[in-house]
Amino acid sequence: MPKVTIDGQSIEVPEGTSILQAARLIGGDIVPPAMCYYSKLKTSGGYCRTCIVKVTKGSEKDPRPMPKPVASCRTNVMDGMEVQNITAPDLVEARKGVVEFLLINHPLDCPICDQAGECDLQNLSYSHGIEKSRYEFKRREFEKIDIGENIKLHMTRCILCYRCVKVAEQVCESRDHGVIGRGDVAEISTYIQKAVDKDFSGNMIDVCPVGALTDRTFRFKSRVWFTKPMNAHRKCTKCSGKTVVWLSGDDVLRVTARKDKFGEVEEWICNECRFERKETKDWNIEGPRHIDRQSVIAQNHYEVNKQLKIDVSNQKLLGEKAHNKQ
Ligand code: SF4
Ligand code: FES
Repeated sequence: MPKVTIDGQSIEVPEGTSILQAARLIGGDIVPPAMCYYSKLKTSGGYCRTCIVKVTKGSEKDPRPMPKPVASCRTNVMDGMEVQNITAPDLVEARKGVVEFLLINHPLDCPICDQAGECDLQNLSYSHGIEKSRYEFKRREFEKIDIGENIKLHMTRCILCYRCVKVAEQVCESRDHGVIGRGDVAEISTYIQKAVDKDFSGNMIDVCPVGALTDRTFRFKSRVWFTKPMNAHRKCTKCSGKTVVWLSGDDVLRVTARKDKFGEVEEWICNECRFERKETKDWNIEGPRHIDRQSVIAQNHYEVNKQLKIDVSNQKLLGEKAHNKQ
């Protein structure tokens, strides 16, 4: 098995493993950020360049360094390869440039954006960005459009990561939308505004790293950090029925798929679970969902201050003061 060393930490991985996957296996701060790669979507990655790393030794056979930073999500490890991520100051600087490019057309509307608090681009710009943009030209403008009954597209926020296109291709029955145009006129579009109404299309909202695709059943109902995410499940014939329900009091404000520590969906959920089951009686609530990423959601202390339990007999959600022993 090829052995790779990333920021001084070595690991042996199966042939065909990308540098990014190898870094995820090691874990911790050395894992490069990823805005377009999604391990559950085939052929994703290679569009955004946030995952760039510096290869200081190509392999045992050919130890020459690679001349430019490479996209770690699309570069496979070679035996003896040595890679730098956070230990290379010039690489960290180069990534700041990538973030600046991602932000040149992105509006600073976080105060009114539904994705705020769980936006990968917001987190990335805090961790890897610079404070100011040098961009002086007019930003791109688009009308907001409804793509189907349940999804709203804000094209101004889109970073063209292609994840939603891959969901349509690989998770839904067929694809009605894609990227049209190239360069600075590229945009996500549906053919003649055709609605994206296929089952499982709601997963596009979960994979969108920014607030470009939002859930029309949840928009503007609450800031995400005022809600309490709970693991919940129901019997569903189309998907596993395992979700996270986001509660405000007894109200289910939204339903999403469960995400892992890299912010990726664990299991795709169907549109019925996501958009049509908005009452607590529809769900068996298991308990608080730990949000494992840096997020303001953790700041509402829903996991420690309250223990919510479901009264199965009348399916009414009860709030109980937890005994915080600390
Ligand atoms: S709408 Fe979202 S998921 Fe689709 S390409 Fe744009 S940023 Fe990516
Ligand atoms: S995550 Fe690798 S290029 Fe986008």
